[in-house]
Amino acid sequence: MPLLKAEGVTAGYGDTEILRDVHLEVGEGEIVSLIGPNGAGKSTLMKTVFGLVHPRQGSIRFRDTEIAGRSPYDIVKEGMCYVPQVANVFVQLTVEENLEMGGYLLEERELAGRKEQVYELFPKLRERRRQRAGKMSGGERQMVAIGSALMLEPALLLLDEPSAGLSPKLVDEIFENIRRINATGLAVLMVEQNARKSLEMAERGYVLAGGQNRVEGSGAELLNDPDVARLYLGG
Ligand SMILES: Nc1ncnc2c1ncn2[C@@H]1O[C@H](COP(=O)(O)OP(=O)(O)O)[C@@H](O)[C@H]1O
Ligand SMILES: [Mg+2]
Repeated sequence: MPLLKAEGVTAGYGDTEILRDVHLEVGEGEIVSLIGPNGAGKSTLMKTVFGLVHPRQGSIRFRDTEIAGRSPYDIVKEGMCYVPQVANVFVQLTVEENLEMGGYLLEERELAGRKEQVYELFPKLRERRRQRAGKMSGGERQMVAIGSALMLEPALLLLDEPSAGLSPKLVDEIFENIRRINATGLAVLMVEQNARKSLEMAERGYVLAGGQNRVEGSGAELLNDPDVARLYLGG
């Protein structure tokens, strides 16, 4: 059984339909990459999976639970966490406080142990634990956002453009971190502008354009598809 399975999803904002009959699957422990041009509906699909946008039609199953129409609060409890594209940290709070916010469902006695695990994964966060997130660089903030999402030990992590606006060196660092997180057994569904890099790392990928599925396959298949390369990977 896939971890996540979306089928026939139609969703949008108000009267505007953005996604039409979209499908997507993420298996246990997989990295799946969602690519496509600006305005394709990638962020809308992530928000729909996470319950921030309610689909008009279709099914979204997480393990064996139907989550279409459920709230993000419920969906988090099922084991999914989401790092949005923007505004993904509390700028006034320190790194440690951000992690504690991420762990809001944990008991006090679980919190310390889980923070420790996140610090082990990202030692830089431990060094900076007393610093305010608002004073940190883009790359460090992204690490805080991801670390906070990991506090509840999700089975699936949704990442919307984790490397947006970062220098090439930091992009590599973020990708390395995603690889490391995935190695702990966590499945990752990510949207990435660095489509080539993300497909190199992904088991499978989906191309979304105009709110519809266009192409899907293994990361290697998409990288080697001349049409995908020309249209979506910049030649
Ligand atoms: N909150 C919103 N209200 C109305 N339209 C929106 C909203 N967010 C996004 N859109 C529209 O939905 C379409 C898809 O946007 P988005 O999902 O952000 O695409 P992508 O992430 O692929 O760039 C765009 O036309 C965008 O203008
Ligand atoms: Mg987007």
